[in-house]
Amino acid sequence: MTDKHEVPRTMGQQAGRRSWAEPWKIKMVEPLHMTDRPTRDRAMAEAGYNTFLLRSADVYIDLLTDSGTNAMSDRQWAGMMVGDEAYAGSENFYRLESAVQQYYGYKYIVPTHQGRGAENLLSKTEIKPGQYVPGNMYFTTTRLHQELSGGTFVDVIIDEAHDPTNRAPFKGNIDIGKLDALLKEHGAEKIAYICLAATVNMAGGQPVSMANAKAVHEWGQKHGIKVYMDGTRAVENAFFIQEREPGYANKSIAAILKEFCGRTDGMTMSGKKDALVNIGGWVAVNDRDVFEELRNLVVVFEGLHTYGGLAGRDMEAMAIGITESVTDDHIRARIGQVRYLGGLLEEWGIPMMEPIGGHAIFLDAKRFYPQLKQDEFPAQTLAAQLYLDSGIRSMERGIVSAGRNAKTGDHYRPKLELTRLTIPRRVYTQAHMDVVAESVKAVYEQRESVKGLKMVYEPKYLRFFQARFEPIV
Ligand code: F0G
Repeated sequence: MTDKHEVPRTMGQQAGRRSWAEPWKIKMVEPLHMTDRPTRDRAMAEAGYNTFLLRSADVYIDLLTDSGTNAMSDRQWAGMMVGDEAYAGSENFYRLESAVQQYYGYKYIVPTHQGRGAENLLSKTEIKPGQYVPGNMYFTTTRLHQELSGGTFVDVIIDEAHDPTNRAPFKGNIDIGKLDALLKEHGAEKIAYICLAATVNMAGGQPVSMANAKAVHEWGQKHGIKVYMDGTRAVENAFFIQEREPGYANKSIAAILKEFCGRTDGMTMSGKKDALVNIGGWVAVNDRDVFEELRNLVVVFEGLHTYGGLAGRDMEAMAIGITESVTDDHIRARIGQVRYLGGLLEEWGIPMMEPIGGHAIFLDAKRFYPQLKQDEFPAQTLAAQLYLDSGIRSMERGIVSAGRNAKTGDHYRPKLELTRLTIPRRVYTQAHMDVVAESVKAVYEQRESVKGLKMVYEPKYLRFFQARFEPIV
């Protein structure tokens, strides 16, 4: 299958269909409340039109992120009770270590409190000031840690990834031609490593093919450059390989995941996504010397190398979460739910990032609000409008998230200006997805009267988390 191949559109409600269902039932519930419009107006204004600054009590359906918002299983909760809270050598660490070795296949593991803790350690260990770090589209925390270590991120994702209407099956792929160009310009010693993200978050949860991972790894080996995976959503990536790549339909998600990891030299991980926990992460490598350095540094920034900023019970829950996350049933229902929501929106002609990715629906704010300039923050505006309509919380993934170029001080101006409806794992039902879809439709129908926002407070780092806005009148 080539990148030009089109993915067929998801069909919504067909006659004679046979549905999938979640491979779990609900044992405990958490009440939700929908607030009224005056309350939402006040809450949004107090939050400076930034959904990150809302109190969660004012939110009805929370699609801000799939990070740390997972529902744990009864087995994971039971695991919390066998936390070995020893400062050193906790039993739970050894269980986590063997789960990562078994399912991801790397030799050495260092736990961290979450993904950015792992990124900090890897960047400090593997980047020398002045080096470049090519990657398949930036991620906010990943790029910042690379920059803080003196590196410069270079986007080497295929061009198709920047076009929200292109329906190529593996829009997360790296363009080897762009790696060649970087090598030609600067030489291998100026390239720290290649950062290969599985299901690229900022591209709309778009996957990387096995063939591409193999080609990138072989390219790296040829030039003595390592490949580190951002494995945050690598299980979701395995699902797309199983579905779309010739030769993988009959392989298990677990087998595909391990093969994919085998095409890389190590990984950073936010366990808060695929690994089905509320907190946790790790960095894993195959090289003993790199491991020694990571294990030494973790003591400075996170905690001893057998807990890395986590409680023993957190490591236990993550070890169990890993085993649950790699089952075919789980991942089919997880991505199936994202597709259910996306299928409704597609039927109603709502502009979004296509094809539907792994963890979220990304509404295309540029096409939603063609009347707004990018400096009027279309995606931030759309997130605010959706909250005002129904109390649904989404997130901006456009010019605000992209931040500023540290050298020139200008906004980075990403081609993609998206509002992300991120689906937490095992948390919401199909009825919640109906409510979300209908609210998006209502906001779309009112799109013409909408004006943008102006930024009135801008923090220095990762500004999207705490920036404040006011409506343009
Ligand atoms: N890499 C990717 C691809 C991510 O999506 C995230 C977090 C991280 C690294 C950092 O991990 O949060 O555990 O420190 N993404 C969240 C999101 C915040 O909402 O997309 P972390």
